[in-house]
Formats: sequence, structure tokens, C-alpha cells
Amino acid sequence: MIDFTDPVFQNDPHPTYAEMRRTGPVRRVRLPSGTDAWLVTRYEDARRALTDPRLSKSVAALGSSPAAAGQSAAGGPLSRHMLAVDPPDHTRLRRLVSAAFTVRRIEALRPRIEVIATELLDALDGRDRTDLIDAFAFPLPIQVICELLGVPAADQGSFRAWSNVIVAGTMSGDRLGPAIEAMIGYIRSLLAERREHGGDDLLAGLIQVRDSGDGLTEEELTSMVFLLLLAGHETTVNLIGNGAYLLLRDRERWERLRADRALLPSAIEEFLRYEGPVETSTFRVATEDLEIGGEKVAAGDPVVVVLLSANRDDDRFPGAGELRLDRPQNPHLAFGHGIHYCLGAPLARLEAQIAFTALLDRFPALRLAVEPGELTWRPGTLLRGLTELPVRL
Ligand code: HEM
Repeated sequence: MIDFTDPVFQNDPHPTYAEMRRTGPVRRVRLPSGTDAWLVTRYEDARRALTDPRLSKSVAALGSSPAAAGQSAAGGPLSRHMLAVDPPDHTRLRRLVSAAFTVRRIEALRPRIEVIATELLDALDGRDRTDLIDAFAFPLPIQVICELLGVPAADQGSFRAWSNVIVAGTMSGDRLGPAIEAMIGYIRSLLAERREHGGDDLLAGLIQVRDSGDGLTEEELTSMVFLLLLAGHETTVNLIGNGAYLLLRDRERWERLRADRALLPSAIEEFLRYEGPVETSTFRVATEDLEIGGEKVAAGDPVVVVLLSANRDDDRFPGAGELRLDRPQNPHLAFGHGIHYCLGAPLARLEAQIAFTALLDRFPALRLAVEPGELTWRPGTLLRGLTELPVRL
């Protein structure tokens, strides 16, 4: 029996997943929320499951499972986004925003993201110690996604608090409900304000699609904004945070990257593989009886792919347990796979590149301010990230 709430597991789930890959790679478990789900932990099974059309994302197929609803924040008006539906709805919703997230369009944001990174690090001038998550890894992506959508900077603090509760997954219902309500209310007021005053950002564009009756319901619009806001900042924070931690835990890596910046792209892919920001996929549900890795999964059963585990599978990655900044081939699943492959991957990669470059340039002597063993990881099985990363500047 795996105790997902055990702090030992939360701080380092890798040994448990390694054991599962060896002794029961596709296993039915009880999640902290009380729902039974199949966990898929090996790379090949994971990749196959993520492209299997018989594993549905539809909230309807998930039935009334409270855990499923909690994990994907699938409650009511926030549940009609592209990550919670199957084709053809998925195809339609994704197409509406995919043009804004191409590598080329995202690359055009580089100068602005560089300014944001520089400003955040400037603000640390004269300080000896800080929490790198709070001061840098979190505000950078949230500012970027807010600007992209057109969300006022002043509001960032409040929806950070709500989204933290929503993605924690294991939170009890009494905190989850109000956080979802607050988020819905916030997004609705944002849409109302933008409808009145117009604009030329992504939000205004989506409102236009909605209001011209071009196939986007009000619920889908609210859900889309919710998903982009949430996915846009709850994940990249952990890429920057986990990556910085991995570099500082073994400072030779930090020095090596400082000396050879050409390693940065492969280093970022390796952070994604080795300690990716997203621990598990969102829920899928079998629409018919099927087999995964030799196990019989019944129609209606929830299935969760453990991305963190698949990315440490020795059958796919030579020396999977080792962090290699120059790993030549890295087909990791940190951004998922198949039709729900992360829409924001080009943005996340660009943000990480800019963030690490700025950090290496600005604070060459950066080091951990605590022992690695003193660090704690965020609760819940959806995301993998540190609660704090105290550093000496
Ligand atoms: C390092 C940062 C990020 C990681 C590791 C990550 C990871 C993922 C993963 C694993 C999925 C698929 C989940 C599943 O199939 O169950 C996903 C989907 C998605 N991500 Fe990201 N993400 C990151 C950053 C972003 C950013 C910056 C955005 C910006 C808006 C974003 C937007 C999305 C969207 C919209 C989807 C749903 C795509 C679909 O259903 O077609 N992500 N992401």
C-alpha cells in the first residue's frame, strides 16, 4: 500500500515508483482523495496510454468521482477546457489558441521576458539571502502568462493563493470549494471588464470569438482562461525551482553550466526528465475494457500516468537515475504526449532558458542556504516542486 500523504513519499517519491516499475508497473491504488485509480509507471506503457483513444478525458466519463473532479478542478464552469475533453471538442478548443503558442510567436516574447527576469533579480540587489521560489521562480512565469492573456498585475497575488489550493489535490473539500468559487468569480469579472473596455491581448481575442458566436460557449471561455492561467504558472515555477535546486545541490553542475552555456538547452530537457514539474498526468478513464501492461482495466476505471516515473525508466533512458546535463537524446514525457501534449512547452522552455541565463550571469556565486535534506516538497501528487528554495546570493 502506498501512502501518498506520507512526508517521506512526498519528499522523495522516486524509490516508491522505482519499486512499482519493478514489481507492479500498472497497479490499482487508492488515492488520498479516496478514489481508486490505475497508476502507469513504465515509459512504454505510459506513452501508449497517453495516445490511446479509449482512454477518455471527458468529465462525463469520469462520472461523479470526487477525486477526479478535484484533481482536474473539474467542478462545473471550469471543467470545459481542452484538457478535460476529447475530440472533436478538444480539436476545436485547442485550435482557438494554438496560433498564440507556436515557437515563432513565443520567441517574439523573448525581449519582454528578459526584462521581467532582470527586474526580478534587480530587486534582490544588496540582499544576501532569499527564497528563490518566491522571489524569482514563481513571479516570472506568472507575470508572463498574465501579460500574454492581459490580466492585471495587481491581481496576481490572489489567484496564486486560489490556484495553490486547487492544484494541491489532497486539500480537503472545505478549502477547495471556496477557492474554485473565488477563481470563477475572478475570471468572470475579468471577462466583464474586458468586454467593456476591449484590448488586443489573448483574452480580448477569445472574447471576440465567443461573442461572434463562432463556437465557444461562455463556460468554455471561462474554463480556457482558467486552464491557461493555472497551467501557465503552476508548472514553470517548478522547472525553474527544481532546475536551480539540481544545479546547486551539486555545485559542480552550476559551474559547468556557467562555463559552457551551450549546454543549457540539453540541461533544461534533463531537468524536465529527471525532476519534472508535473508528477502525474491528469485523469483519464477507460471507455471500454482494455489492457495496459498486461493488467485488465475495466470500462469506467480511472487511469493516471506517472510521468515522473516513466522519465526514470532504465529501459528507455540509459542511467536514468543519473542527471546528465549533456544527455544527447531525451524523449521525456514531462510535457505529456499525444493530442494533449503541452500547449505551453515552447513558452516554458523559453522562460527557463531566460531564467537560468539571468541567474548564472547575475549571481555567479549562488548557493543553497540550507542542507538539501532540509528542503520540503509541495504536497499532492499532481505537481513536483519545492515549497521554498532558500539561497545565498
Ligand atoms: C515546464 C512547464 C510545463 C510543464 C512541465 C507542463 C506539462 C504539461 C503536461 C504534462 C500536460 C498534459 C497533461 C495530460 O495529458 O494529462 C500539459 C498540458 C497543457 N499545458 Fe502544460 N506544462 C508546462 C507549462 C505550460 C505553460 C507555460 C502553459 C501556458 C499556457 C501550458 C499550457 C498547457 C495546456 C493548455 C495544456 C492542455 C493541452 C491539451 O489538452 O491539448 N503549460 N502540460
